[in-house]
Amino acid sequence: MSSGFSARSAEGYEQMMGRWSRKLARGFVDFAGQRPGEAILDVGCGTGSLTYTLAEMAGHGPLTGIDVAEPYLAYARSRSAGEDISFQRADATDLPFGDGAFDRALSCLVLQFTPDPAKALSEMARVVRPGGVVAACVWDSYGGMPHLRLLWDTASALGLDRDRSLFRPMSTDGEMAAAWRAEGLRDVVQDTLVMRFTFEDFDDYWSPFLGGDGPAGQFVAGLGEADCDRLRAQARHVFLSGRPDGRRSFVAAAWACRGVVM
Ligand SMILES: C[S@@+](CC[C@H](N)C(=O)[O-])C[C@H]1O[C@@H](n2cnc3c(N)ncnc32)[C@H](O)[C@@H]1O
Repeated sequence: MSSGFSARSAEGYEQMMGRWSRKLARGFVDFAGQRPGEAILDVGCGTGSLTYTLAEMAGHGPLTGIDVAEPYLAYARSRSAGEDISFQRADATDLPFGDGAFDRALSCLVLQFTPDPAKALSEMARVVRPGGVVAACVWDSYGGMPHLRLLWDTASALGLDRDRSLFRPMSTDGEMAAAWRAEGLRDVVQDTLVMRFTFEDFDDYWSPFLGGDGPAGQFVAGLGEADCDRLRAQARHVFLSGRPDGRRSFVAAAWACRGVVM
């Protein structure tokens, strides 16, 4: 099983992203749709943000989450409150389900990290019945994540981000829609979901990077102590922007795409 995502600890992920992906998941479910009783697959469920958002619907059908990261799956299972919710270890590019087994396959913030996003999309389409929906969202990592740009751009100015590339698969305008159409899906719609990341203070912003989860956490955790201290000091200067430490809020944008299986 293969992943381009650094998954170290579920608690670290929750601080880094889970607390925000729960918020994104609400807008994503509105975009992707959900009907009572539907069998829905959450591809790359992580700690369960999307699965448990789907579970909030009264009369929801069986919900299945898959992921390659066992620590995240264990966390997701520990939150389970219903028989209709299950989690299993599986690779998005090789789903262990029969053709047409689900009414919908949804994926939140995952395709960018799979080794072969087109194959993952093809697998999602395979396991959804004709007339069912395949939908995914990914952060607009280049143009839509200013709070992460703050980190990456500061690191770059300090000469630390030597492998710099903010582009990820499926993360430019129209890229998802083109992939959905190439997969033979119909009624394809690509849109932008917008939400806010609001941090209580600089420590609330900075400390999640130290856990090592996700690309930014992996980057910060891999720095030597002196470079990490330099980055922290400069990032704090930019974060504070001349005002006392305290709450700061950043807009964040995700690309979302949905289509119907023929
Ligand atoms: C940014 S997290 C998103 C998790 C969750 N969907 C959420 O919204 O919080 C990316 C997830 O993709 C998972 N992942 C990466 N490659 C995968 C693959 N090939 N198959 C299944 N999951 C994968 C990672 O383990 C991680 O949990």
